[in-house]
Amino acid sequence: MQAERAASVPFPPGDTKFSMARTFGFTREPLTLLLAAYEKYGPVFTQRVFHQNIIFVLGPEANHHLLVSNAKNYSWRHGHYGDLTPLLGDGMLAIDGAFHRLQRKAMLPMFHRERIARSQLLMEQEVDDALATWQDGTRVDLYHWTRELALRIAMRALFGIDPETARGRGDAAQEFENALSFWSKDYVFQIMRGPGTPWARMRAAAKRLDAIIYGEIADRRARGEHGDDLLGLLLDAQDGDGLELKDRHIRDEVMTLLFAGHDTTTSTVAFLFYELSRHPAYANGDDFNLTAALDETLRMYPPAWIGPRRSIEPATIAGVEIPGGVPVEYSSWVSHHLPDVWEDPFTFNPDRFVGAARDAIPKGAYVPFGGGSRTCIGMRFGQAEIGVIATKILSRFRLEVDPGYVLSVRQMPTIGPRDGLPVTVRAAPPAANLGDGDVSREPLAA
Ligand code: HEM
Repeated sequence: MQAERAASVPFPPGDTKFSMARTFGFTREPLTLLLAAYEKYGPVFTQRVFHQNIIFVLGPEANHHLLVSNAKNYSWRHGHYGDLTPLLGDGMLAIDGAFHRLQRKAMLPMFHRERIARSQLLMEQEVDDALATWQDGTRVDLYHWTRELALRIAMRALFGIDPETARGRGDAAQEFENALSFWSKDYVFQIMRGPGTPWARMRAAAKRLDAIIYGEIADRRARGEHGDDLLGLLLDAQDGDGLELKDRHIRDEVMTLLFAGHDTTTSTVAFLFYELSRHPAYANGDDFNLTAALDETLRMYPPAWIGPRRSIEPATIAGVEIPGGVPVEYSSWVSHHLPDVWEDPFTFNPDRFVGAARDAIPKGAYVPFGGGSRTCIGMRFGQAEIGVIATKILSRFRLEVDPGYVLSVRQMPTIGPRDGLPVTVRAAPPAANLGDGDVSREPLAA
């Protein structure tokens, strides 16, 4: 509110009066609400959500401004990513400037192609184990199945923590889920404090998780062997003055990577198979293209659907002036459904991402991994993991979503199927054109 009063330039047009209905709409149906506001006000507008005016910026030009050409004018730390600090601390999502560059540089080698190729072997092993009991007629909740699998893969591939052996110190996977469930609660429950509240349960789970992570860090420091994984890179990291990262910063990055990498991948796998089950002719046809199907899934359901920032100086976005010091958010989910950018935006059509059609997508229109210098660091890791899971499933099975199932999308902290994804496994010949399952490619320009 102070920032609103101090704003040197008026907020862009929009709905700026307090409204509980809008606040509720924003937490339940943000896609509908923001698409309606786009129709009314254009690509840059203000919406009061609860007690705060937020500037939303949508579409190719605005995305390019925020992510690439003027990215320096927007802080991550002082935007709503700060809401995750109680669990994630000062990890990459909540830092800017030189400190962020140091952390990102330290971690980058882990996400190079050769390292991902090595992680791929471990992914294959984990997926084979998880599929061992599947046969024609098996019923499974694909969302929960993938969630468990993705967490095992992240813990092993990134941090060398074997979930089985770490169990002596506590069940890291379970604790992580316990902590994360806080963000799926309604806002009124999130602001409650005191014993027995979701907040208290989240803090308690985070503490137990900390004990596991700090335990692993201490073991490695004591052994003098930092290890050949992401945790090892963080333990080795030094800035220009030879300063090392403190244990607390390493812990914050471990937590951030588990958070950023686990739910995103899981939801994408669930949405991909949800759409394939609704389009069996495509999934079983000769033109099936897994890479394009995945691109289209990430268009319709980009899990990290909102990118919160705070402007530093006043700026002009897509011809609209905005003040400095105020919340500014882009949304891939809404940008991917703009009717003047995408034909039939609510229709699943992977052909949009094939050949000349893909080349014609405007810069900044498709941003499921963000863009610019802070593009998702885990993009290739996530693509590799989804590729391995999808290829292994599609080379032996098709999945049928339960006939009565109605997809309800939850929004926080990332978008995902609110009630999981119950499916029946059907034995089937391999889908066409599966190749080696490599679905990675360079992202479209933001
Ligand atoms: C389908 C999978 C994934 C999707 C769709 C996705 C999406 C995104 C997006 C949109 C951003 C930028 C957010 C913004 O601009 O506000 C981002 C950043 C980030 N992602 Fe991912 N992500 C995925 C997988 C992963 C994985 C597997 C990891 C880690 C292993 C990861 C780690 C990160 C981190 C650390 C950042 C912050 C980068 C920085 O600040 O420099 N993500 N991700």
